Amino acid sequence: MFDLVYFTTLVLAFAAPTIAFPAHASLAGLSREEMDKALGTLKFTPPPPPPGPLDFSGTKLVNDAEHPFMDARPGDIRGPCPGLNTLASHGYISRSGITSCSEIITAVMEGFNMENNLAIFTCYSAFLVNGNLVTDKLSIGQKTAKTGPDPPKPATVAGLNTHNVFEGDTSMTRADAYFGGDNHSFNETLFQGFVDFSKRYGGGKYNLTVAGEYRYKRIQDSIATNPTFNFIAPRIFSAYSESVNPINLWVDGRQDDGQLDTEVARSFFQKMRFPDDFHRAARPMNGENELDVLAAHPIEPGTNVNGVNTYTPDPTSGTLPDKCTLYENHVNRTVRSLYPNPTGNLLVALKANMHYFYTSVQPKGCKEIFPYGR
Ligand code: HEM
Ligand SMILES: *[C@@H]1O[C@H](CO)[C@@H](O)[C@H](O)[C@H]1NC(C)=O
Ligand SMILES: *[C@@H]1O[C@H](CO)[C@@H](O)[C@H](O)[C@H]1NC(C)=O
Ligand SMILES: *[C@@H]1O[C@H](CO)[C@@H](O)[C@H](O)[C@H]1NC(C)=O
Ligand SMILES: *[C@@H]1O[C@H](CO)[C@@H](O)[C@H](O)[C@H]1NC(C)=O
Repeated sequence: MFDLVYFTTLVLAFAAPTIAFPAHASLAGLSREEMDKALGTLKFTPPPPPPGPLDFSGTKLVNDAEHPFMDARPGDIRGPCPGLNTLASHGYISRSGITSCSEIITAVMEGFNMENNLAIFTCYSAFLVNGNLVTDKLSIGQKTAKTGPDPPKPATVAGLNTHNVFEGDTSMTRADAYFGGDNHSFNETLFQGFVDFSKRYGGGKYNLTVAGEYRYKRIQDSIATNPTFNFIAPRIFSAYSESVNPINLWVDGRQDDGQLDTEVARSFFQKMRFPDDFHRAARPMNGENELDVLAAHPIEPGTNVNGVNTYTPDPTSGTLPDKCTLYENHVNRTVRSLYPNPTGNLLVALKANMHYFYTSVQPKGCKEIFPYGR
């Protein structure tokens, strides 16, 4: 009996399939043992430097014959960002939804005319916390499931869905994670709020006035209903940035008037699709009008510290106008808490990606910091 058990165990141990760590899963927060195991199976891809600005940066047709819309296939990944989902549906980034910052930065400039430094800042801030730094791969969300194997444990394959490191609460058309259920897919009820505010404050269009009111409303909703509501760096940046992206990047470049039709908005938010004949923005868009959204209803970074309606400012958090502190908080706190003791190729990749991230705030006069040494 003992021998049989022993034998069976032995056979099972050798027969158990070696579950490879997914090349696009984040290594953040793994235990030392899990990390060593994962690193043993992953091929190191040194991260290439971020692409520079476009040569031609005017408007042009981007829903073109070379980039036809196709529905996600079973197993393709789509996530909480309607901009990246759309670029995947049109093949500006890999249709699989597994991509990299170099690919994303080229795609957001080419497909939407997002300004180079904003693209670099946004992508590396997300990649540092949600990407696989060793393989240089980033997933834009979770598997659409249905087919394909379940993600092996303990891998974090949520990609950009990972809560509170970049993805966060108080989204415009996605529910807060606290409420469970589906917190990353399009939600029609929330979208109707977006449409309603566009009617009330924008004559039926989503514009900067609407953005100021709707951002404030979503924050008030979260303060009043989500006891774990958290609105500090880096979420403070992404939330305001997402409020103006639709105005800056989804208004056809030939129209260029900052007034977004709500059916055009639906095409991106829900269908993940460029409207027919869509032309990208007229010039590189740097997102600085996010400060107007904040100015409409100034609110300090903070959290609900003790249940709903206990929103308390957190003076240690970077604020929206202060990109240097946002940068420092991100690398010195968020990233370092996820990777307390990196070694080997992971350390090499962390330093390289932190430097690429820094290059996007260098023009603002920020000082580079080196949390893992030079
Ligand atoms: C540069 C790389 C980008 C990254 C890494 C990124 C990542 C993300 C993530 C993680 C979210 C979810 C945040 C949340 O609501 O919790 C998000 C939301 C959003 N993104 Fe992106 N994004 C990028 C570029 C873009 C571009 C180019 C556009 C527009 C063309 C865009 C438009 C939006 C919008 C409108 C939302 C808000 C969705 C909502 O509130 O319902 N993003 N993005
Ligand atoms: C968000 O929703 C997904 C399922 O759609 C769930 O697996 C995940 O745990 C949720 N995230 C959080 C932080 O609750
Ligand atoms: C959509 O959001 C509303 C409002 O937050 C929520 O009540 C509803 O359950 C959500 N629907 C889905 C399908 O998650
Ligand atoms: C938004 O639209 C409303 C209604 O047309 C208008 O009064 C307001 O000035 C617009 N705001 C911007 C910033 O275009
Ligand atoms: C980074 O954090 C450490 C403590 O964790 C602190 O001593 C150091 O001053 C910080 N560096 C910067 C530039 O903020």
